[in-house]
Amino acid sequence: MELSEKIREAIEAENATLPRLRSGLIPALHRVHQAYGEISDAHRSELAEIFEMGPDEVAAVVQLSKVLDTPRRGRHLAKVCVGLTCSRDGAREFLRKLAGRMDIPVGGITEDGRIELGEEICFGACAAAPMMWLGDEFHEDLDVEEAMRILAALE
Ligand code: FES
Repeated sequence: MELSEKIREAIEAENATLPRLRSGLIPALHRVHQAYGEISDAHRSELAEIFEMGPDEVAAVVQLSKVLDTPRRGRHLAKVCVGLTCSRDGAREFLRKLAGRMDIPVGGITEDGRIELGEEICFGACAAAPMMWLGDEFHEDLDVEEAMRILAALE
């Protein structure tokens, strides 16, 4: 499946705000994964064209990420960054507590199939930990209560 016009426009709008085109690749990959549940060969080719890279270079970035390289299973995928900078600012403890409140392990899905909870290494928003990527948006400077409120509002 090709990228929708809406997704392409969102990626290109975000790229227009960046000093270097390639800085937008990881957020774009997350946007595609969130929208389609996976990053297909066709998506990799389109992203390679948008980011002026080879499809193999895009594939190599995807393979570095446990989440991006795995098809989504829950109706919504919430990903908490546990990269170095975010972990220094409490992200791992936040994720552990959030998983406890949701009563699922990291990588698990709620019993109703609504939410899959994942972890990721760096979204490029390193000053806002703890942070969670959900439904095409960053939620920043979270605590567990706020994250639970956001997740409870999902259908
Ligand atoms: S380390 Fe978390 S967004 Fe970069």
